[in-house]
Formats: sequence, structure tokens, C-alpha cells
Amino acid sequence: MNDIAATRAFRREIGAAHDFPAPAAEKGALAINARRIVLADREIAGVIHIENGVIVGVEEGAFDAAGLSFGDDILIPGLVELHTDHLEPHYSPRPGVRWDPVAAVYSYDAQIACSGITTVFDSLRAGDDADRNALGAGLFALGEAIERAKAGGLLRAEHFTHLRCEICAPDVLDEATGYLARFDVRLMSLMDHTPGLRQFRDEEKLRAYYRVKAMKSEAELDAFFESRKAAHAALHDRHRRDIVRLAHARGVALASHDDTTLAHVAESTADGVAIAEFPTTLEAAEASHQAGLAVLMGAPNVVRGGSHSGNVSAIELAENGVLDILSSDYVPISLVYGAFALREVKAIGGLPGAIRTVTRNPARASGLTDRGEIAVGQRADLARIAWTNEQPVIREVYRAGSRVA
Ligand SMILES: [Fe+2]
Repeated sequence: MNDIAATRAFRREIGAAHDFPAPAAEKGALAINARRIVLADREIAGVIHIENGVIVGVEEGAFDAAGLSFGDDILIPGLVELHTDHLEPHYSPRPGVRWDPVAAVYSYDAQIACSGITTVFDSLRAGDDADRNALGAGLFALGEAIERAKAGGLLRAEHFTHLRCEICAPDVLDEATGYLARFDVRLMSLMDHTPGLRQFRDEEKLRAYYRVKAMKSEAELDAFFESRKAAHAALHDRHRRDIVRLAHARGVALASHDDTTLAHVAESTADGVAIAEFPTTLEAAEASHQAGLAVLMGAPNVVRGGSHSGNVSAIELAENGVLDILSSDYVPISLVYGAFALREVKAIGGLPGAIRTVTRNPARASGLTDRGEIAVGQRADLARIAWTNEQPVIREVYRAGSRVA
């Protein structure tokens, strides 16, 4: 059976009646009135007009009696998420358990869309590390499942792949090359989780993490840490060079990961990196931002008030004017919570500035120019937020003008 026949059979099998979003012909025109519409630089009251999935008019102070009315709820662009590993727990909800991969993608996508996210980069790990051992061949199973779910018209959000490359892993080049040959990858990141470096330069914190997570004894941890350091010495430089080359050859955007020192930032800049994910120090974040890299931090870090690894806090970077992007990391709903919390930071530029960190900034940094703000010509990816009990509540989500959540 060829791919098209397989997809048709799959759609029959799942009884797919409607794609998300609906085909353009069904969309027609739509107007939305709201007293709080968050543009890229300010808030207005008025109406937006949508045709065939695209915003064709933004009228301040106007009202369209034939349109929807969102009252006092806040209308923002659909969120753009660059780094979420939340698919993994849907695929492996218990140690040793594998859920049907397409069903895992489907339920994960529903959580993503209900969190206001209309564009998501699913982060999948290439290269074996201690965390990923549990997933086995999950990388390719999940890549396949995302493609099948997309082809079946099952997905509410638009999905791209962010291939996270653990560069000191012996199998990282094989996995990255194999994945790139089969699937569409839009972002690759350069990870190095060697004990004593970067995210885990405080080795004791990493020991505490593995003591609980992997229930390893001290002797086992000693041996494990030694093997990770030996792999770093043997493989880091060569693998990093090859992964960078692979990304550039395919025109895939690159992200650094956990840069800590000025030397790390200089290396990332020389490697043509566009996004600095989770810099661990203010020094590295400032240097990255000044070099024109978009600095990305975890929204859970904002919501919880600090880094779970004991590194620099996202709020501190925002206060210093060097935070560009938030990512939900491991909790999808944290993205909207984090953005609303950020509006309290003076240097961020109010609610419009806070919302930019989860919409326009991640879209532009990853090369997407057709979405990320409420403006004429942009895709009508939108989220309706009610401010209730001091919390942002997602009421409705639209992708390209069609309601998806
Ligand atoms: Fe990390």
C-alpha cells in the first residue's frame, strides 16, 4: 500500500469526517468584536475581520453587529511553542508502558490546543541519554505517528519537529541523520548534559535528580558520571561540528542549549545559532541577546519563581531586558500563565510585550513570518482569554480562522 492509500485507509479506520482546521472553503468570513485586543505594541477595543483564515482588517473603536462578541475577554494571537517535551508522557505514561503512538499524539495535541497553542514544535530527542533510555525506539515511532495524525487531519494545532540532539551520545549522528531523511525538521538544538557542565555544573543537583528519578546508588552514580564525562571528552567536539553542519546543509534553524559561559555563547554565535535556549547565567543570556540570538526560557521557571536546576531565573532575565521567548517546556498550560505573570515586569512592555514572548518572538526566531500577531495579512490564529480568579482561562482557540478548541 502506498502512502496515500495508507492514509486513506487510516482515515476510514478512524472515521475522520473533518480536518482540523476545516478546509478553507468552509471558513468564509468571520468578524470578532472585543474590548481588549492585544496587538504587537498596544491594546485596542474594536473588531477584527477574517477571510479564508487570514486577518484582513483590524478596526479600532468599531463594532460589527454581525460578528462574534468576546466582551471583556482578551483576544491574543495563538501561542507559538518552540520546545515542549510533553508528548513523551503521553506515549509512555508509566515506566515501561507504551501507549498507541497516534493516540498519544492526538491526546497531547488536544492539551496543546486547549492551552492556547496553535503552532507547536514537538521536541523529540535524538541520541540516547539516561532519561530517554525508557523510550527506546520512540523517536521514530513518534515521528511516524505525528505524520499519520497530520495526514489524517486529526490535529488542532500545527505541528513542527524540534530535534533535540544530545551531542555526546554515541548514536546521535545516526539518529539525527535517519530522522532528517524521513521527517520534516524545522529546529535542531545542541544539548550537552554532561555532569559538571552547563545545566548541571552543580553536580550535586544532578546526583539528587538521579537518586530520586533513577533510584541509583552512589557507586552506580559514580560510574555513570564517569562514563558521561568520558563520552564528552571523546565525542563532544566532533559531534557538535557534524550536527551544526547537518542543520545548515538542510536550512534548519539551530538553538543552543544551557549556554553558561561567554565561551559557550561565542561558540554558538560562530555556529550560526538563532535561539539561545535556557541560558543558565545572566552573563550568558546578556551576551546571547546582544549578539542577536533570541533568548528562550521556561515558562514554568516564571510561574514557579525560579529554575528547578538552581540556575538563573527567567524573571531576572526579563528584568534585565534580555528575555525574548517563553516556552512551556514540560507543562503546556504554563505558557499562558507565564506570559500573564511576565506583564508585571517593568522592562517587558506591559501585556503586549509579555504576549510577544509567546507569539511573535518565537514565530520570527523560528522563521515563521505568517503568524504571531494580530495584524492584517497574518494567519487568524487566535486565543480568547478570560481573566477569572486572577488566572488566565482559555475560552476559545482558532487556527487559521477555524475554531479548534
Ligand atoms: Fe538542559
